[in-house]
Amino acid sequence: MAAIMRTSAILLLALFVVGTDALSRPRHRPIGRSYVKRTEVQRNGPLVDLNGTELPPLNTTYFFDQLIDHDNPSLGTFKQRYWHTWEFYETGGPIILTTPGEGNAEGSEDFLVNSTIDGMIAQELSGATIVLEHRYYGLSNPYNNLSVASLQYHTIQQAIDDLAYFAYNVKLPMPGGDNVTPDVAPWILIGGSYAGALTSFTKVNKPDVFYAAWSSSGVVESIVNYWGYFDIIRKHMPQNCSSDVQAVIGHIDDVFTSGNDTAITVIKDLFNMSLTHLDDFASALQNPIWEWQGLQPSSDLSDSLFFPFCDALEVKDNQTAPPEGWGLENALNAWAGFWQETYYPYFCGDEDAETCFGTYNASSAYYTDLAVNNADRSWNWIVCNQMGFNQDGAPDGVPTIVSRLIQPDYWERQCVLMFPEAFSSPPTPRVNETNAAYQGWFVKSDRLFFANGERDPWRDVTISADGTDFKSTSTQPIVMGDGFHCSDMFAPNGEVDSTIAAVQAQGLATMKSWLETWEPPTRR
Ligand SMILES: *[C@@H]1O[C@H](CO)[C@@H](O)[C@H](O)[C@H]1NC(C)=O
Ligand SMILES: *[C@@H]1O[C@H](CO)[C@@H](O)[C@H](O)[C@H]1NC(C)=O
Ligand SMILES: *[C@@H]1O[C@H](CO)[C@@H](O)[C@H](O)[C@H]1NC(C)=O
Ligand SMILES: *[C@@H]1O[C@H](CO)[C@@H](O)[C@H](O)[C@H]1NC(C)=O
Ligand SMILES: *[C@@H]1O[C@H](CO)[C@@H](O)[C@H](O)[C@H]1NC(C)=O
Ligand SMILES: *[C@@H]1O[C@H](CO)[C@@H](O)[C@H](O)[C@H]1NC(C)=O
Ligand SMILES: *[C@@H]1O[C@H](CO)[C@@H](O)[C@H](O)[C@H]1NC(C)=O
Ligand SMILES: *[C@@H]1O[C@H](CO)[C@@H](O)[C@H](O)[C@H]1NC(C)=O
Ligand SMILES: *[C@@H]1O[C@H](CO)[C@@H](O)[C@H](O)[C@H]1NC(C)=O
Ligand SMILES: *[C@@H]1O[C@H](CO)[C@@H](O)[C@H](O)[C@H]1NC(C)=O
Repeated sequence: MAAIMRTSAILLLALFVVGTDALSRPRHRPIGRSYVKRTEVQRNGPLVDLNGTELPPLNTTYFFDQLIDHDNPSLGTFKQRYWHTWEFYETGGPIILTTPGEGNAEGSEDFLVNSTIDGMIAQELSGATIVLEHRYYGLSNPYNNLSVASLQYHTIQQAIDDLAYFAYNVKLPMPGGDNVTPDVAPWILIGGSYAGALTSFTKVNKPDVFYAAWSSSGVVESIVNYWGYFDIIRKHMPQNCSSDVQAVIGHIDDVFTSGNDTAITVIKDLFNMSLTHLDDFASALQNPIWEWQGLQPSSDLSDSLFFPFCDALEVKDNQTAPPEGWGLENALNAWAGFWQETYYPYFCGDEDAETCFGTYNASSAYYTDLAVNNADRSWNWIVCNQMGFNQDGAPDGVPTIVSRLIQPDYWERQCVLMFPEAFSSPPTPRVNETNAAYQGWFVKSDRLFFANGERDPWRDVTISADGTDFKSTSTQPIVMGDGFHCSDMFAPNGEVDSTIAAVQAQGLATMKSWLETWEPPTRR
């Protein structure tokens, strides 16, 4: 994905895509951060605190000595990276902590300032902000590789323990920063997507560390077969595009399961993709649909080929299709044309299809690259072991916009290839254990604010899932806007969508009222 540079004199921001190659080109199971276009904060003049004293640049990297194993401190520590500012801080104000979750945290300085909810809260409540890189992502690693042996301390529980140990032991570089542990100052934990789940899990597992918390699009309920991901997209995308995508996928599934090699070759030739395995072909076609996750209400934050894809299928001779679409023949040819001209070069560059989409070659770098800062590998470790979230075709009888050839076994087979020392056969992720340990959808916590988006494809594993009816309460509000994934975390979305502005305003007011009652834990 080429860096897209835009500048705005008014916002003093330069916007561009940040993140590692692995994240900006998520070929399997994207989540969260990988699809949100992030912003680099640039300033017109120095950053100063409330006294007018100049502050270190936002991208100054700090290091915390984190325990490798919270169950066995004698194993020693590793350097965990963090970023921090005290632009709005006054003594007694809250310490606001976010981990960006499953990716390199460089370039997340926006979570320090008021273009995000973290900075908005800091500004309103005179707080200081921190971004903490999650263990096993970026350069925050106990060991210098991501071998299975090294990954044994990569668990949800260790990540929760990191947050607590950090809060109780960090000496922040700001004035008075050696005296703001959670027993003397209120801490607020904020996270989106996986980190939103981690926020909820932390409130459940360690209720006293963070006085208040904000979970945005928190994927709290671990599910092995998460076909609902595409079901939400199907329900919210333009109906003509949905109809035509269903027609194409239905046809391809019929042909791929027919055993008619002639007909199968016709389809492969149409897309010019000679993949050996039909499920790899079917999964490749998930990618234009996954583009939905790149949508945000603010065009400055949105980065997606979803609508160009739908336009390619639905606009013909300057006319737009009715809700039922143009039908299979046009849709199949239009999809294949868009694929060859636009999507394949964008996604695969010069790579051949087998290298770009194949999942059967145990020697491919995708499976064998153990280098640190390989977010795909670290995230897959969590997915294969603890969370599942396989993004599959719908069950028979439910309309589907991705192939029904894609089922959990497609992904679980890959777990074995990626982590052969850990799995001798396709593992079923231990989602029941995860949900039992951290309460999943049934979380009950004090001062935990849930924010979700109607059009977020991850919504069905959040506390606002379709078919559930979890009640919003004053100690655990559940607030919906009509945004996408993690939309409420970013100020520009509130500027263009009043429902998101309302979520942000309610969240800010809630944090303010909760902090008014803060007392040290010993007096609670
Ligand atoms: C601002 O100045 C006051 C008074 O000198 C001092 O107590 C406070 O620590 C300063 N705040 C910061 C963030 O430096
Ligand atoms: C921080 O940002 C400045 C200006 O954008 C850049 O010159 C500098 O190299 C960056 N420092 C680090 C440690 O990334
Ligand atoms: C955000 O913070 C900057 C200072 O960094 C301030 O100039 C600006 O007014 C703030 N924005 C809002 C909407 O309050
Ligand atoms: C991974 O790192 C550990 C610790 O440094 C080392 O003992 C091990 O040999 C490495 N494994 C691989 C496969 O590189
Ligand atoms: C048809 O598709 C176009 C292009 O994607 C979209 O803008 C329009 O809203 C759709 N119309 C209907 C009726 O679904
Ligand atoms: C196989 O598919 C081809 C091409 O679509 C078609 O012409 C042929 O009739 C099919 N054969 C059978 C046995 O259905
Ligand atoms: C089809 O794909 C091959 C590579 O697999 C490429 O060399 C060729 O140019 C493509 N054909 C068209 C018409 O794009
Ligand atoms: C489509 O519309 C554009 C501009 O509105 C026009 O230039 C073009 O000739 C039209 N194409 C067709 C096929 O009608
Ligand atoms: C598997 O991947 C390796 C490493 O990239 C490559 O050398 C080999 O040709 C691939 N095998 C097949 C069958 O594509
Ligand atoms: C989780 O528990 C339910 C109820 O006991 C059971 O039906 C299901 O198979 C379990 N799922 C997994 C992945 O172990």
